[in-house]
Amino acid sequence: MAGKSWRAGCRRRGTIVPQARSRRGAHAPLRVFVLLASADPDEYARRVLSIRSLGKSFPGPTPRTVLANVSLDLAAGDYVAIMGESGVGKSTLLNLAAGLDRPDRGSILVDGVDLATLDDDALTLLRRRRMGFVFQAFHVLPYLSVGENVALPLALQHGARIALSQRVQEMLDAVGLGDRAASRPRELSGGELQRVAIARALVHRPALVLADEPTGNLDPDSAANVLALLRDVIKGQGATGVLVTHSLAAARTTDRILQLTRDGMREASSP
Ligand SMILES: Nc1ncnc2c1ncn2[C@@H]1O[C@H](COP(=O)(O)OP(=O)(O)OP(=O)(O)O)[C@@H](O)[C@H]1O
Ligand SMILES: [Mg+2]
Repeated sequence: MAGKSWRAGCRRRGTIVPQARSRRGAHAPLRVFVLLASADPDEYARRVLSIRSLGKSFPGPTPRTVLANVSLDLAAGDYVAIMGESGVGKSTLLNLAAGLDRPDRGSILVDGVDLATLDDDALTLLRRRRMGFVFQAFHVLPYLSVGENVALPLALQHGARIALSQRVQEMLDAVGLGDRAASRPRELSGGELQRVAIARALVHRPALVLADEPTGNLDPDSAANVLALLRDVIKGQGATGVLVTHSLAAARTTDRILQLTRDGMREASSP
């Protein structure tokens, strides 16, 4: 399984465990190993994302509780939509799952590893190796060609120069932009830019794909195409996907719709 080989890779390369030590003291690595050794390994292979009783508040003149008692378990191959009113905390939840912010309460495990045991460098490595992101605003870099944008996660991961590889071409072909590798982002439409972002999000075969309103800036036809493509690519790679959206039509392209509320996460309906 990809999850197992990644964990084995971490132990081999000594990335996660030593960096966890620097943040949490000498006992943190031990905890990670005990966790891995004492549990059914298939359980961890299945659970790509496991969120337990998560809580997050933002300080301020009137401190604001955004997430309260949110739990979610996603296995390899799951593709779910999260809906919920504006401001309920959907983007905050994705940020926490990506380790870009820290929760106040509860835990988040990615591939069975508790994000609280990882320092910022280890979280960055985890994101580079195991996660892919697609955002509403595309975030395609204007000064790189289409091919270079897609190649970026591979270069970041391997510490290499950005190079167009067979894998980059494969992903461009998969999103229908096989002949646009040399184009500049300004020459592409919104729907095409979002397809570049999808190719970039999945080029390094991430286990977990987090998409935050990826079709919010697209016309209905482009949105439908992008969503179908996102689903195909996620399913084709056996990745786990989370799609945050306000659109029921978009949510219905996933396997399961969840509703985030002030009280936690609940099943909305079957798509
Ligand atoms: N860094 C921050 N500091 C203070 N408040 C924040 C911060 N990030 C988010 N919030 C607040 O937390 C709440 C949830 O924000 P979030 O962006 O997660 O909502 P959302 O569900 O994604 O909404 P939308 O559907 O409009 O995108 C909002 O009230 C927002 O103002
Ligand atoms: Mg949001």
